[in-house]
Amino acid sequence: MMNREEVLRWLHETDPTRLADLYARADAVRRECVGDEIHLRGLVEISNYCLQNCAYCGLRRENIAVERYRMSDLEIMDCVQEAVRRGYGTIVLQSGEDYGLETGWIADLVRKIKAGTSLAVTLSLGERFPEELAAWREAGADRYLLKFETSDDELYERIHPALPNRAYSRKGLLRILKDLGYEVGSGVMVGLPGQSYQALANDLFLFREMGLDMIGAGPFLPHPQTPLGQDATYATLPPEEQVPATEEMAYKVVALTRILCPNANIPSTTSLASLNREAGRRLALQRGANVVMPNLTPGTYRLCYEIYPEKLCFHEDPDFEHAQLMQLFADLGRPVGKGPGGRPVDIAKGKESSL
Ligand code: 5AD
Ligand code: SF4
Repeated sequence: MMNREEVLRWLHETDPTRLADLYARADAVRRECVGDEIHLRGLVEISNYCLQNCAYCGLRRENIAVERYRMSDLEIMDCVQEAVRRGYGTIVLQSGEDYGLETGWIADLVRKIKAGTSLAVTLSLGERFPEELAAWREAGADRYLLKFETSDDELYERIHPALPNRAYSRKGLLRILKDLGYEVGSGVMVGLPGQSYQALANDLFLFREMGLDMIGAGPFLPHPQTPLGQDATYATLPPEEQVPATEEMAYKVVALTRILCPNANIPSTTSLASLNREAGRRLALQRGANVVMPNLTPGTYRLCYEIYPEKLCFHEDPDFEHAQLMQLFADLGRPVGKGPGGRPVDIAKGKESSL
């Protein structure tokens, strides 16, 4: 196991030879603990309405430049069928925090997917009420994704203005999701303005402490229609304390996450692939990641789901993307994961890597 000083040292490391050692170690832990399989999760961005006003995100409520959409259940079921055709094990339904997606409607949708396919269903619909999360779990939803974005409460409050009448914190909801029996995913952005090395080290240890099943970390990418993309002084730190939003820092976080949470499912994120279109996806898979989430959102809606600019999927034809992925996995000598690819059993046994 790595201690805090070591994690901080790695976060500051710049020597390529030493970093190559870190990446090799993460890759070995990945192979030992979750194997060579790469699991595919089909992502459907079902609505881009959002009640929240996060300072970093292009879908924030106050960004009136976004054309808002909500997919119909028929449109969503088409995407589900596409996931089945392609042999994916999981469908991920993602949206902004949109109460237009009614509790019963989502529950019916989940039931329909579970009855008609063998897909695992992951929901990523933001902060919803515990009763809703319970209803969806009852309807058959297997997993829930809710990123805590940063463990630094002060920074979180600055970039994520609180909505009135919220009884639960995001971290509190993660606990509730676990108690409801969901496999729980969370994660952070790397290089958020105002994010210190200390805070990022805390994020990594919090992943471990929370016993998360899925952990996603990608670089912060500034969006011009957001406060954080417009105002360089929105959240500032002395330069030596600020984590840079670089590709390399994101790989370090993926590698350290794998070493600290050996059994977690870790995606090679779209934000990382957007930063380096040519090699980002591959490099994350070689440095700890074992999951890819291809985008199945219909083209007409996809462009409207602009969390940050120049998302990889804006430019890809879905069939081309799929073929490219298959080629990449073949080049890496890694098989596509069979079945839902959920929580590895060893998490329950608390197995530690010997590496
Ligand atoms: N850069 C990178 N990731 C972002 N997200 C939101 N805005 C950005 C951005 N500007 C990520 C957050 C959030 C998810 C919707 O997308 O982690 O959880
Ligand atoms: Fe909404 Fe999520 Fe974007 Fe925040 S990060 S504005 S909750 S979609």
